Amino acid sequence: MIKVLNVVGARPNFMKIAPIQRAMQAYSNVQPVLVHTGQHYDEKMSKLFFEDLQLPKPDIYLHVGSASHAVQTAKIMIEFEKVIQQEKPDLVIVVGDVNSTAACSLVASKMGVKIAHVEAGLRSFDRAMPEEINRMVTDVISDFLFVTEKSGLVNLKKEGIAEEKIHFVGHVMIDSLIYFTEKAQQSDIKKRLHMDSKDYALVTLHRPSNVDSKINFTKLLEAFDVIEKDLPILFPIHPRSKKMIENLQLQDTIDKMKNLHIMEPLGYLDFMHLLHNAKLVLTDSGGIQEETTYLGIPCITMRENTERPITVEVGTNTIVGTNTALIIEEAKKVLDGKNKKGQIPDLWDGKSAERIVSIINKELS
Ligand code: UD1
Repeated sequence: MIKVLNVVGARPNFMKIAPIQRAMQAYSNVQPVLVHTGQHYDEKMSKLFFEDLQLPKPDIYLHVGSASHAVQTAKIMIEFEKVIQQEKPDLVIVVGDVNSTAACSLVASKMGVKIAHVEAGLRSFDRAMPEEINRMVTDVISDFLFVTEKSGLVNLKKEGIAEEKIHFVGHVMIDSLIYFTEKAQQSDIKKRLHMDSKDYALVTLHRPSNVDSKINFTKLLEAFDVIEKDLPILFPIHPRSKKMIENLQLQDTIDKMKNLHIMEPLGYLDFMHLLHNAKLVLTDSGGIQEETTYLGIPCITMRENTERPITVEVGTNTIVGTNTALIIEEAKKVLDGKNKKGQIPDLWDGKSAERIVSIINKELS
């Protein structure tokens, strides 16, 4: 029996682990144990996703919650060490680049347990991003590095990772997108939001570099102020951004925009419904750059860089930073039908989790 701890912590982890958990059901010799660190704990940031993604209740929940980076990472490590002692797994699977990813990998590596990193090799080359540190730390100590796009192969090779550890498998997040497309299309979220307009822009924003800085947040809001005159904007808001609107006293600026609709964070299926049908997406997320590329929907990324360059080279993504004029210019291009058209990257075909579990089974049996 191969015992595997599947680790999730924050919202962008859930749709990546779900297809892996499902793929493991086909193997009677693989025993998945679902561990939730509790990094994200709000009902709308966590529980809703378990329901929508048909994930089983976590077998183990660590109640870690929010704190500074050091405290959050340390708390996860302390609790996860006990889990490894108790469960004695053969493998720990971590996904993405959140604090839970790096913390659990560090613990596993010191306890001599093999680690698989799903979404390995991505690099923004911007060490001011906490996620970049998490990615680098996790990759260097992983035994299986599952890569979503070709840039990952190049980066890992340059960093001296042994080739036999690296596997180009495509993207498990796209597995979830494909698997749930029909269900997502059935969502009645537009009705619940009383949205009569067919066309709208969808916004997500939560990077500390954007929302913790009044200067940057204001520059983005100035762009939204122009765009919303032509296109209603839907903005499901991350708890961090909500808190910062209050702290930075931006509520008045927001209230002036009659076509900017801020709402609570949405579940996976409702959000996917809005994504599938959006005219334009403005985001600072990592995963949404990829989901829009798969769907062929124009994406304007409000960051200075991306660790997912395939979305720009092959997909529909454009990087604009916090430059108000550039954001407006790119949005206008979309409204005029002059946006670039993209293609689907290699191996983003809905079968990545099956590839991953098949490789693990072969190498650990
Ligand atoms: C984390 C990840 C980020 C990912 C994002 C997706 C790290 C370093 N960052 O950022 O890579 O893109 O998740 O959402 O791991 N909060 C709540 N309820 C929750 C969770 C958070 O209110 O369920 C609030 C708290 O005020 C908290 C703040 O959001 O302090 C930030 O949460 P945290 O988990 O530290 O980082 P995120 O910004 O969510």
